Amino acid sequence: MTVSVIVPAAGSGTRLGESVPKAFVDLGGRTILEICVAGIVEAAVADTVIVVVPADLIDDARRLVPDAVVVAGGAHRSESVRAGIEASGRNSDIVLVHDAARPLTPPAMFARVVDAVQAGHPAVVPGLPVADTLKQIDPDISGPAPERVVRTVDRELLRAIQTPQGFTRAALAQAHADDSGLATDDAGLAERCGIPVHVVPGDPLAFKITTPWDLRIARDIVAAEST
Ligand code: C5P
Repeated sequence: MTVSVIVPAAGSGTRLGESVPKAFVDLGGRTILEICVAGIVEAAVADTVIVVVPADLIDDARRLVPDAVVVAGGAHRSESVRAGIEASGRNSDIVLVHDAARPLTPPAMFARVVDAVQAGHPAVVPGLPVADTLKQIDPDISGPAPERVVRTVDRELLRAIQTPQGFTRAALAQAHADDSGLATDDAGLAERCGIPVHVVPGDPLAFKITTPWDLRIARDIVAAEST
């Protein structure tokens, strides 16, 4: 089976507070984007890697990841993924979508997701049990904290979802067919179409770099690995 991996890397990363978009931030001598693509190559599941970046950074990305196909992204993550789907053409049986912002994802996770799609599941996501107690707050009460709690959610039934998320090409195309569909992940769009989504074990190392705190942890991990 032919496998493509789409890497959305076109976010601005404003919550990170760095001077360059998140995927181009340095993590111990290499950019987040380079480390992410190196992990995908090491996983050895992909026939094609498609990287989606801000339009003005296409040339930089081509220099950093010369073996990947590089295309321009959109204003929202879903639009960037759709640009990747377009670039992937019709040749892939399985398409994985993997956030550049999760550069330390262990290579074994890619195989886990591909295996589950190959076993017959059209949409597969890695997920972790939730450690904290989770409470839902009242959305109608605006204004300063404290917020009002409505209920406590049963965390045993919840999973924190990561990437890579894997799909049959048809399932991903169907999920993204409505181009007004904005979602924080691709499986969310699949769910809305009635496509069954299955969870395989995730990994703490696949955490998403979003805040300066995450970046600090990622830099510590990379430094520890290189000593
Ligand atoms: O913003 P967030 O951290 O949820 O973004 C997840 C991934 O989606 C990141 O790798 C980011 O670069 C990518 N993204 C994108 N295009 C956008 C927004 C986010 O490719 N317009």
